[in-house]
Amino acid sequence: MTSVDRCYNIEDLRLEAKRRLPKWIFEFVDRGAEDEVGLAHNIEAFRRIKLRQKALVDVSGRDLGADLLGSRATLPMAIAPTGAAGLCWYEGELELAKAAAKFGIPFTLAISSTTGLEKIADEAGGRLWFQIYVWEDRQLTYDLVERAAQAGSEALVVTVDVNLGVNREFNLRNGYGNPFKPSYPTVRDILLKPGWFMNVLMRYYTSSGMPRQANMPPIARNVHGAVLRGTDSKITWDDIAKLRDRWKGKLIVKGLMRPDDARRAASVGADAVVISNHGARNVDMAPAPIDVLPSVVSEVGGKVAVVLDSGIRRGSDIIKAYALGADAVLVGRAALFGCAAGGQAGAERALNLLKREYELTLAHLGCRNHQELSPDVLANDLPFMGQSIDTLPRRRNSPVQEVLTA
Ligand SMILES: Cc1cc2nc3c(=O)[nH]c(=O)nc-3n(C[C@H](O)[C@H](O)[C@H](O)COP(=O)(O)O)c2cc1C
Repeated sequence: MTSVDRCYNIEDLRLEAKRRLPKWIFEFVDRGAEDEVGLAHNIEAFRRIKLRQKALVDVSGRDLGADLLGSRATLPMAIAPTGAAGLCWYEGELELAKAAAKFGIPFTLAISSTTGLEKIADEAGGRLWFQIYVWEDRQLTYDLVERAAQAGSEALVVTVDVNLGVNREFNLRNGYGNPFKPSYPTVRDILLKPGWFMNVLMRYYTSSGMPRQANMPPIARNVHGAVLRGTDSKITWDDIAKLRDRWKGKLIVKGLMRPDDARRAASVGADAVVISNHGARNVDMAPAPIDVLPSVVSEVGGKVAVVLDSGIRRGSDIIKAYALGADAVLVGRAALFGCAAGGQAGAERALNLLKREYELTLAHLGCRNHQELSPDVLANDLPFMGQSIDTLPRRRNSPVQEVLTA
């Protein structure tokens, strides 16, 4: 039995990740912006929502799968872009992508990953989505978009919630920054984790050299991304419209928190919006996405796919997102903790744990698939940003719900 097999939930995987990683990497993954009010709130917002079980319903014909942006997925779920996987494990992005492929969901490769998108496309064998930030030099951005198309990425995820950098004070205390410069705390923390030093850092060192942001153009690679760090503070909806013109695949706009922004995304031709506060890593005082979800579903449900992330740690969290009208969810840290705990096997463990919890809860609620989930399964009348359960929107275009509500 491996240490990953002894992890029975995402928190166990998180603790295993903490045991293995140098402190500055673990905290980079685990922590949030400023006072970390939002980090706790993302979790708490899910926990406040209670579910009503329904007895004596035949749930034997369960089908957890669903169409997700044009192809069937094991669950309407995908792995969120997280730039740190390659620091958590040797070629961690590839491990995550292989886990997603085996599990049957898309994997989103972050622009700042240490494994190149062509390698993921060639070797992982599953559905690839590619995430970008829009750089000041638009032509460099467009060149990268073209690379993503050539590599066969089926979706372009444009993250729009980082326009002027972020404030994470723990990184400063830990001596960790971009570009990376060795410091007393980073070197000390590496030496305290010899397993990580040998299995991750030395493997890079003896194969391809020190880890670098592999998707950056050569101009930026030389200085470890410093030239192109973050996004351009002048990015507007015009940029999204221009990307829409260039990108023939699915276009996903990630990092929206308002119904009017979601409507704008729909109007420029996005296929999906991700309601996300970036896992509370950017705006500490942002509300939890699960709380703003109903207002967004009211506005654009049925017009674009509404995807939610931030704070998902249990299968029941996924249930709550679908019940409140999300078409799909992304998991960030949950999968990343799994990868840090055990590479592909750890990431698979994370996905399977979430699926098992999801299926158990689904059955207890008397439902057989995600389309049967509606506000009817919610037990408490919470003020979802001003709306009570009775007025909450239901996911559109669901034949099952039309029958239920007829
Ligand atoms: C370590 C880490 C790195 C991340 N890097 C990116 C990134 O490069 N691009 C991006 O769009 N989102 C990034 N995110 C945000 C995730 O895509 C996602 O929105 C967030 O993790 C969801 O919250 P959760 O971790 O609670 O599931 C990152 C998140 C983490 C934890």
